[in-house]
Amino acid sequence: MAMECIATRPQRFNENKTEEDPSNFDANLLNQQSNHIPQQFVWPDHEKPTDDVQPLQVPLIDLAGFLSGDSVLVSEATRLVSEASKKHGFFLVTNHGIDETLLSRAYLFMDSFFKAPACEKQKAQRTWGESSGYASSFVGRFSSKLPWKETLSFKFSPVEKCHSQTVKDFVSEKMGYGYEELGKVYQEYAEAMNILSLKIMELLGMSLGIVRRHFREFFEDNDSILRLNYYPQCKQPDLALGTGPHCDPTSLTILHQDQVGGLQVFVDNRWQSIPPNPKAVVVNIGDTFMALTNGRYKSCLHRAVVNSESERKSFAFFLCLKEIKC
Ligand code: OGA
Ligand code: NI
Repeated sequence: MAMECIATRPQRFNENKTEEDPSNFDANLLNQQSNHIPQQFVWPDHEKPTDDVQPLQVPLIDLAGFLSGDSVLVSEATRLVSEASKKHGFFLVTNHGIDETLLSRAYLFMDSFFKAPACEKQKAQRTWGESSGYASSFVGRFSSKLPWKETLSFKFSPVEKCHSQTVKDFVSEKMGYGYEELGKVYQEYAEAMNILSLKIMELLGMSLGIVRRHFREFFEDNDSILRLNYYPQCKQPDLALGTGPHCDPTSLTILHQDQVGGLQVFVDNRWQSIPPNPKAVVVNIGDTFMALTNGRYKSCLHRAVVNSESERKSFAFFLCLKEIKC
């Protein structure tokens, strides 16, 4: 992968810099220069992370068991999903069938991308109003409550419906030579997540007491998003947030997180954590699905905290309704 880059002479935060220079906040540099994070990353007291956070009770759903058709396993899975979805909309899915090698390659390419010089990452710069590309709050000098993270997002539509490999094509168009493998890996990852999300839609349909194929068919054609979340180490993690409190506006989110931990959900009036489980993906209901169920299933406020010891990585696949093009 091409790492040569003439334009990245690292500069100090607070130097008299032009707005066009997007390397203003470089997390690595900030960590070397100071033990204090810039004010823009400090969250108001009532939103700062707290340390008395307990793990949230989330069920483990055995997807292979559900798909086997065994009536005991099916009714157990649908009961657990229904219970969790009515309360907070979060559950864990095991035996999800995502290939281990694909997962580890997805993490490896994440390292290679986010650790590249800023000018390399900016080849994929996300532009205003677009949902694909690289974004870093480390450029937002004049905002406040900035999240301590960088992201790389890709629009995804199933190949058989849109006749193009949306992720791979974006990478080859924007990033070009040296990124072919990265494009292939994330195309493959998004396709695997699309298949998984449709299986989870069968599970959600049955748990609501409607025909199994209803939501699967409804979402078979979709315009989804795959987002890579990269949370650098932070010297003052008790002042900052990796992702601020939000509900996912989309239909369903499938999150794969590494072993660091940081995901928290607001349930029963307090923040509770979802600790990493190497065998499971985290699934949560988004606002659109909540609306589709007339509010029976909940979309719940969540956030990500950062820490001073290690960086953290996660992949979020957001299943979204097909865009209506007029
Ligand atoms: C998101 C999200 C949480 C995490 O990307 O919408 O909530 O743990 N991410 O990265
Ligand atoms: Ni989210």
